[in-house]
Amino acid sequence: MTKNIKLNAWVEEMVALCQPDKVYWCDGSEDEYNRMTDLLVKKGSFLKLNKSKRPNSFYAVSDPTDVARVEDRTYICSSKEEDAGPTNNWMEPKEMKIILKDLFNGSMRGRTMYVIPFSMGPIGSPISQIGVELSDSPYVVCSMRIMTRIGTKVLDHLGEQGAFVPCLHSVGSPLEDGKQDVPWPCNSIKYIVHFPEERAIWSYGSGYGGNALLGKKCFALRIASVMARDEGWLAEHMLILGITSPEGKKKYIAAAFPSACGKTNLAMMTPTLPGWKIETIGDDIAWMKFGTDGRLYAINPEAGFFGVAPGTSMHTNPNAMLSLTENAIFTNVALTEDKDVWWDGMTDEKPLHLMDWLRRDWTPSLQKPAAHPNARFTAPAKQCPVMDAAWEDPAGVPISAILFGGRRGSVIPLVHEAMDWNHGVFIGSMIASETTAAAAGAVGQLRHDPFAMLPFCGYNMADYFRHWVDMGTKTTTDKLPSMFYVNWFRKNEQGEFMWPGYGDNIRVLKWIFERTEGVENYSEIPFGKIPNISAIDVHGLDISDETLHQLFNVSHEQVLQEIDEIKSYYSKFGKHIPKELLEQADKLVQRAK
Ligand code: GTP
Ligand code: SPV
Ligand code: MN
Repeated sequence: MTKNIKLNAWVEEMVALCQPDKVYWCDGSEDEYNRMTDLLVKKGSFLKLNKSKRPNSFYAVSDPTDVARVEDRTYICSSKEEDAGPTNNWMEPKEMKIILKDLFNGSMRGRTMYVIPFSMGPIGSPISQIGVELSDSPYVVCSMRIMTRIGTKVLDHLGEQGAFVPCLHSVGSPLEDGKQDVPWPCNSIKYIVHFPEERAIWSYGSGYGGNALLGKKCFALRIASVMARDEGWLAEHMLILGITSPEGKKKYIAAAFPSACGKTNLAMMTPTLPGWKIETIGDDIAWMKFGTDGRLYAINPEAGFFGVAPGTSMHTNPNAMLSLTENAIFTNVALTEDKDVWWDGMTDEKPLHLMDWLRRDWTPSLQKPAAHPNARFTAPAKQCPVMDAAWEDPAGVPISAILFGGRRGSVIPLVHEAMDWNHGVFIGSMIASETTAAAAGAVGQLRHDPFAMLPFCGYNMADYFRHWVDMGTKTTTDKLPSMFYVNWFRKNEQGEFMWPGYGDNIRVLKWIFERTEGVENYSEIPFGKIPNISAIDVHGLDISDETLHQLFNVSHEQVLQEIDEIKSYYSKFGKHIPKELLEQADKLVQRAK
């Protein structure tokens, strides 16, 4: 119980609906976390990892059918279908509530309902928001304690009258009539539902990541994007990093890449160019507001990383590896004989014997992955060795550049810069990327993913474009961040990545840094401004002039095709598409002539 009247009433109502055996209010303490992990170990959901190798860390494998976000089961239930737009699943709110109430009716029988008060952003920051998740999953409680700020301190801040976003979650697996529990309860029926006008979230049937940790994608992106539209700010699928030049000048950059397209890696990369320093503010979500000085300030609403494990190594991302040495949860990776974790790409040499994520014996000779491609680590952000001193600053950090990106095997150059804000919004709207294992469904298929927000925008995507155009009119041009489009994933004719990526991406960031300083080291192509070849610092990098040239090469036909593609995509949104973006498409046609 709390002093908050609305919260008490809502909990009471949801208890009557879900009929849990017990209700437990989370205080967020370490003692509570230990009790919760003990319980998960006892239930067989968690295995405690070797404490001399990975202290206070746990191993979990999910149900094989519950391994990623489920985009086709995700709904935006605004009263008008038009407000959800053509890229979101929609159902009339009343109709959806009938379905949900039926599913949630008795869904927590035999289980405990955990009340998890959480703050997205430092408690008390003017940019922060409070939510309360009701969940029947202790795995969710443990994960939310790492990913957000939870417990009594949040309730204290909420007080009697404070507003919160109600987030109801059930794995949809009641334990009735002596039914035995399983390590990873879930339901084959799944609904991840958002009511943007009511600012409420109902999630049923999944225990995994973005489906179940409701502070993350459901609140901090889908509901927050609606709040941001109404209140004049931005809630984005972006990392935030600090970059310091060898001369000691520091700037902050935000970057939107689709799921599993390199945000965590860029956010904490180890630069290969001497003298440059990268520090982390956040690796997945940015909330940005204009400050009184007219600049855009960003905070990371999260407190932890829920990162892609496969491919993470001391070579590719040492700072991520060093964040995972203790107090971490690993989901759907492989287990070594001495009870530590392993995943594909973690070490050059593969272990001789493992238990794979499906609890089967694994040896290298099988020549198949040991971890699920969307296996994830959950770790407190404060454990990352390169967290920026300002990462919890309630005021946020001023953003000098915004990057867009995605997986494009061809066409899109290594980097190009927008001509101005509206051209930048056009570029953001133009992102297309190959699908990844972060969502259920086929992998490697090129699809439009504007602003890396396709699965995360809580309203009509074209109205969201309009909001971005409008944001550009709220300050003077000189104060707006510059915008860039990067592509680390361009391939040669043999199908190999042409750019080394990871720590070498500093070479691109260096050019971006210089551009924000006004250095005139660029040429224009129809897409925008690209670096003069000599402006990409390739010191110490074994790359041929030919490859470098290829990384920026875009043929006339490719530009025309891209224009046709974006125009036909825009036509899906009818009159909602801002005229400013249609003008940008026309300008691109002119430049391509
Ligand atoms: P979400 O957490 O799903 O939002 O993903 P993310 O955008 O944080 O992606 P992450 O940094 O975890 O990278 C996902 C995958 O892309 C990993 O397998 C990385 O190894 C790979 N990757 C990241 N950066 C690069 C790069 O610069 N080049 C190449 N070739 N691969 C990269
Ligand atoms: C993503 O898919 O973009 C993620 C992982 O960051 S999840 O939290 O599952 O959404
Ligand atoms: Mn993400």
